[in-house]
Amino acid sequence: MTRVDSRPARARLLPSHLRRAVIGAPMAGGPTTPELIAAVGEAGGIAMIGSGYLDAAGTRAEMARVRELTDAPFGVNVFLLDRADSDAALSAAGGPGVVAEFAAAIGPVAQRLGVALTPGPEFTDFDQDATLDALVEDPVAVVSFTFGIPDPGVVRALQDVGSAVVVTVAGVADARRAVEVGADWLSVQSAEAGGHRSTTTVGEEPDDITTLALVRAVREELPETEFVAAGGISTPEDVAAVLAAGADGVQVGTVLLRTPEAGTSALHRAALGDPRFTESRPTRCYTGRFARSLVNEFVDEFDAAAPPAYPHLHLLTGPMRKAAAQAGDPEVPPLWAGSRWREADAYADRPAAEVVADLWDRAVQQRG
Ligand SMILES: Cc1cc2nc3c(=O)[nH]c(=O)nc-3n(C[C@H](O)[C@H](O)[C@H](O)COP(=O)(O)O)c2cc1C
Repeated sequence: MTRVDSRPARARLLPSHLRRAVIGAPMAGGPTTPELIAAVGEAGGIAMIGSGYLDAAGTRAEMARVRELTDAPFGVNVFLLDRADSDAALSAAGGPGVVAEFAAAIGPVAQRLGVALTPGPEFTDFDQDATLDALVEDPVAVVSFTFGIPDPGVVRALQDVGSAVVVTVAGVADARRAVEVGADWLSVQSAEAGGHRSTTTVGEEPDDITTLALVRAVREELPETEFVAAGGISTPEDVAAVLAAGADGVQVGTVLLRTPEAGTSALHRAALGDPRFTESRPTRCYTGRFARSLVNEFVDEFDAAAPPAYPHLHLLTGPMRKAAAQAGDPEVPPLWAGSRWREADAYADRPAAEVVADLWDRAVQQRG
């Protein structure tokens, strides 16, 4: 087919094109700031705006701020939320009443913090269609998707304006589906990852596969596909191991949470270095979807009772989480952390550019 547009197509950005194939994770809700994105980009990696909880205008504002700070390429991550899937998960779990039951269970905690809980808030998709329109109108180097496989038409529309399309997948079957819709590369996320696990349905119980095992399985299934590995990658040795297992790069979140450029709260930063916390666990208790947090009193008490109701629990617990954080109480809010948060200690308070350079360069040296 002849291209009507006479401009040459921009080469789409792949991990192998980066000076250092380190992807700074999109961390929606505050930790990933424009400053962090600029620092990672200038170090030869690439980082992504976490648009998951922003509307289109908020995403555009973050894009403008990144462009003020750097000419380096950056990406935008979009949550693919599907109301029909969300409703199906809730109805299989017993219907909206299970959200009200959970609200009643956590009521005393909210009350102690002076917050009124409103059970059964409306579903919201955070305006994802408008965000995608904005990204077609004003393209960025990379658009990544989480919680779903985009339609081929969406993938093509983004590729037509020069963006590389990335899909975050939690298993081999979804990796194959992502390739089939035309993704340029994948972010392969294991059970070790901090924050949400990118399963494509709310209802499924994710497995507990390690990053190394998942990398090997995806490489075997998709020998030609470029992908980065995510989950518990906290040291140059971790990077070297996943590269040796077949990944083309890494995506890191936890190791960047304590950099000065990150927007991580003081409470969260302190908890990551606090010996009081000895375990991290994937739990539905904050948002209704599995996400890995340090185990504090709230996780300990409410993990088992939390229904698969996303984003209902996210909306329900939001004000209470905020009040707890403002009160300086680490026993209530989520303390997102990957399985190897302890190993990330060595990078605490170091500038993001140094973290990216050290992780990559020492891994490459080790591989010889
Ligand atoms: C605080 C936090 C927030 C996150 N938010 C997002 C997000 O908005 N979108 C996304 O695709 N992944 C998100 N993730 C997951 C990361 O993309 C990545 O898979 C994970 O951080 C890798 O594991 P690690 O934390 O052990 O490095 C988040 C992770 C953390 C720690």
